[in-house]
Amino acid sequence: MLNNLNGVVNSVIKRYDSEKIKQLVFNIYQAYGFSTDASRKVANTLIYTDLHGIESHGVQRLVMYDHFIQNGKIRVNSHPEIVKETDVSAVVDANFGIGQLNGIYSMNLAIEKAKKHGIGIVTTRRSGHYGIAGYYADMAAQQGLIGMSSCNSRPAMLPTHATKAFVGTNPIAFAMPAKPHTFIFDCATTTVPQGKIEVYNKLEKDLPALWVAKNGAEPVYDHNQVDDFKALRDPDSNVGLAPLGGVTEETGSHKGFGLGIIVEVFTSILSMGNISTEITPENLEVGPCQSFTAIDPAIFGDKQQIIDRFSRYLQDIRELPAIPGKTIYVHGDKEAAAYEDRIKNGIEIDDRTLEEITDIAQRLGIEYAAFMK
Ligand SMILES: NC(=O)c1ccc[n+]([C@@H]2O[C@H](COP(=O)([O-])OP(=O)(O)OC[C@H]3O[C@@H](n4cnc5c(N)ncnc54)[C@H](O)[C@@H]3O)[C@@H](O)[C@H]2O)c1
Repeated sequence: MLNNLNGVVNSVIKRYDSEKIKQLVFNIYQAYGFSTDASRKVANTLIYTDLHGIESHGVQRLVMYDHFIQNGKIRVNSHPEIVKETDVSAVVDANFGIGQLNGIYSMNLAIEKAKKHGIGIVTTRRSGHYGIAGYYADMAAQQGLIGMSSCNSRPAMLPTHATKAFVGTNPIAFAMPAKPHTFIFDCATTTVPQGKIEVYNKLEKDLPALWVAKNGAEPVYDHNQVDDFKALRDPDSNVGLAPLGGVTEETGSHKGFGLGIIVEVFTSILSMGNISTEITPENLEVGPCQSFTAIDPAIFGDKQQIIDRFSRYLQDIRELPAIPGKTIYVHGDKEAAAYEDRIKNGIEIDDRTLEEITDIAQRLGIEYAAFMK
């Protein structure tokens, strides 16, 4: 069953109407002082995320944003601005505004350039956490373009053989129009993102694999190892996330590690923004960096033929012989199925997250009970 596709299988999580929760998120952002446009954009991106079954980065993250808005790390009235530009590229300074606003602005800029010149690549600095990278890649795909987006984050990944984190969870998203739905590859370059650990911790579930390591290679599985999970947030600690590929060369650790560095190039290095190790929750003068690329397939040939051929290629993969009891998916299939399910049956919110949202609403004087039915 395609239940809770972000990988956390849980039977006690309740369902909530996505439109009502979107309205509640919108009201919360209005109460913080964000404009109607910004509040709508944040609510849309977070609910898009939950509707696609990516619970680690949907409304689960409201509490983290709430903390950043309260301590001034996310500035309510800041707007992104272009600081360097060519026909096909731009560097944007987000001025510590909310990451979703910067992301939508910067991807729209890349799309505009791709429509005029075939390709647009925008790299941004001094931004805020922007949620899932796939949202921005999908913006380009919805316009018939190939979209890519990445971001850096505070240090979390243990470089292969290191006992201390240095690289961020640095996700890579790639979206390309296809039938019956868009192909979207959207993953952290660590085995899992920090948000998935938060979800497991909230549900008091042990981790199923070596996602977190102590002293470079010792697995941390048990949810009772509270101090080790707390240490994940401390860049000076001896706990970190395994790169995609684990912690040994034999399992390909160096590959996820290398991908994480490539993300750093397209985000902080090219924009001259903060690298992962400079990003700390307390320092208000630093922020994550992001990159946004749009490519028009028409610069290579007949766009429709390219998309049709790609769609057949993906379908051939889905129809390969499979291990008994297993399904072959391509990237984007699970999210498309999750969307069909959640749009009908509601988004999944765990009780701890619900409590966090109601606490925020209460503090801001927002009526919330009607949105939770
Ligand atoms: N903003 C940040 O700082 C930040 C950092 C890290 C991750 N993230 C986000 O976290 C989200 C979750 O990341 P994740 O690493 O947990 O992703 P994940 O492990 O859930 O993988 C998701 C991707 O893999 C595909 N997929 C899943 N099972 C598949 C299968 N069997 N066959 C083929 N494809 C399959 C999905 O369609 C999707 O493209 C992403 O949206 C990412 O952008 C954000």
